[in-house]
Amino acid sequence: DLPEIDTGTAPEATPTRNAPAAQIAREVQRRRTFGIISHPDAGKTTLTEKLLLFSGAIQLAGTVKARKSGRHATSDWMEIEKQRGISVASSVMQFEYRDHVVNLLDTPGHQDFSEDTYRVLTAVDSALMVIDAAKGVEAQTIKLLNVCRMRNTPIITFMNKMDRETRDPLELLDELESVLDIRCAPVTWPIGMGKTFRGVYHLLRDEIMLFAAGSEKADQAFEVIKGIDNPRLAEMFPLEIEQLKMEVELVHGASHPFDLEAFLAGTQTPVFFGSAINNFGVREILNALLDWAQPPRERDATVRAVAPTEALFSGFVFKIQANMDPAHRDRIAFLRVCSGRFERGMKIKHLRLNREIKVSNVVTFMASSREQVEEAYAGDIIGLPNHGNMQIGDSFSEGELLQFTGIPYFAPDFFRSVRIRNPLKVKQLHKGLQQLGEEGAVQVFKPVQGGELVLGAVGVLQFEVVASRLMNEYGVDAVFEGTSISSARWVSGDDKRVLADFERALGHNVAYDAAGNMAYLATSGVNLKLTQERWPKLTFHATREHA
Ligand code: G4P
Repeated sequence: DLPEIDTGTAPEATPTRNAPAAQIAREVQRRRTFGIISHPDAGKTTLTEKLLLFSGAIQLAGTVKARKSGRHATSDWMEIEKQRGISVASSVMQFEYRDHVVNLLDTPGHQDFSEDTYRVLTAVDSALMVIDAAKGVEAQTIKLLNVCRMRNTPIITFMNKMDRETRDPLELLDELESVLDIRCAPVTWPIGMGKTFRGVYHLLRDEIMLFAAGSEKADQAFEVIKGIDNPRLAEMFPLEIEQLKMEVELVHGASHPFDLEAFLAGTQTPVFFGSAINNFGVREILNALLDWAQPPRERDATVRAVAPTEALFSGFVFKIQANMDPAHRDRIAFLRVCSGRFERGMKIKHLRLNREIKVSNVVTFMASSREQVEEAYAGDIIGLPNHGNMQIGDSFSEGELLQFTGIPYFAPDFFRSVRIRNPLKVKQLHKGLQQLGEEGAVQVFKPVQGGELVLGAVGVLQFEVVASRLMNEYGVDAVFEGTSISSARWVSGDDKRVLADFERALGHNVAYDAAGNMAYLATSGVNLKLTQERWPKLTFHATREHA
């Protein structure tokens, strides 16, 4: 029997179904849904805060920062729970700017880095890449950009911290192009850096925006001087302006002019220089996001593509967050709306379970708090209370069978074997891990030979969360231990006999995941490479689609 779906008893809105097509089209058109990709410390939190200040969504600088400093990895369950409570508010931040509705989806970094971080990127329409100009391209940026690649997500680049000594800007662009394999179109160009940072030159508008140390003001205006040949500039900073002229010539010759189509295809990124902490250049990237990045587009489902302006509601779950509110011990399934209009109190169909649910106490995410949502359109994220019956990748509609595709699982980077102190609890352990695996909290592999289950994660905090939840929700005291496994790949092949041979020959390193897919658990990069070479008829995948 399926568990009861309890969506609570919040007051109902009176449904007024079938919003006029023009209204849906208008609402879709003004929506922008994006995430920030960056390496820890590049300035994501600072930038998020400035964006929220600009839009008036928060009044107080330090609000987002305070949340961040509240987060630290710890094995204390209550602590994790508390942090989850804190971080949910910043999981999705919706704000308005220039008559647009902007949804900013958080991509947890630091110790919070997990599969969620990757999967959030499957729910955005564009991404903002923040790079510390003193450091250049860093590891986590590369990982996240590769995920954006899967859907050709358009990327806007912000070179941050120009008020510090940075690397040479031309060299930075070079690195972006070679390491990330994306063409760069500088839109603004820095004048000096660090102590002699004078501002930026807008290559498309032929304007110079003068740098001034920022304040906590919401939307700061910086002085603008028209024309690179303006004599005022030569008076103000003769040295830097000469340098700028030389560089601009170089840039015009060596880099690509901005091309909207290439940007939208994900092959070119417009690059802006600035300093988030000083508000400097932040408005430019927000405008670029509104003017250049697109509103929600069509999404692929198994049967057909779904247009955002369709009259009927549809969407998919891309993330499940557990136990966020210590008072309620609830889980929330984050659903991205793909079409139509959602309104509180309406009935939607959970397609995998083939049953209708009435969603009353849905949450939306205004920048400052969890709030009751009245309506939502394509691009918006809504939170559905969930008691263990929703999984990553689940699709919802008003009846039509629309299983959305493109919600991947990622090959884990960290592995633990798991055993329990009390062998009588083995059933609970398997049940717990099965459910946590389905939910996407961790990946569970059962080796063909050998008894111990192997857990895989892309961030180590995932193991702590799983250990705590096993204890709290399933009464299982599990011990996680290091393993010799260093990477995993899902294995597929057309010839069933070859697959069977593979399983027999390498049984200790062949395993099945929670959804029953075969995987190869490699002990090293070399081991993986050799195995791939020895089994040319099999394909080894670093991602797999939700089944
Ligand atoms: P993250 O979320 O990407 O991890 O980065 P975060 O915004 O927390 O920024 C990391 C550090 O970089 C912070 O300093 C922040 O103040 C600083 N920072 C961000 N933008 C700029 C900028 O434009 N210029 C300069 N000079 N610094 C910047 P911190 O010392 O770690 O924290 P705090 O002492 O400022 O609180």
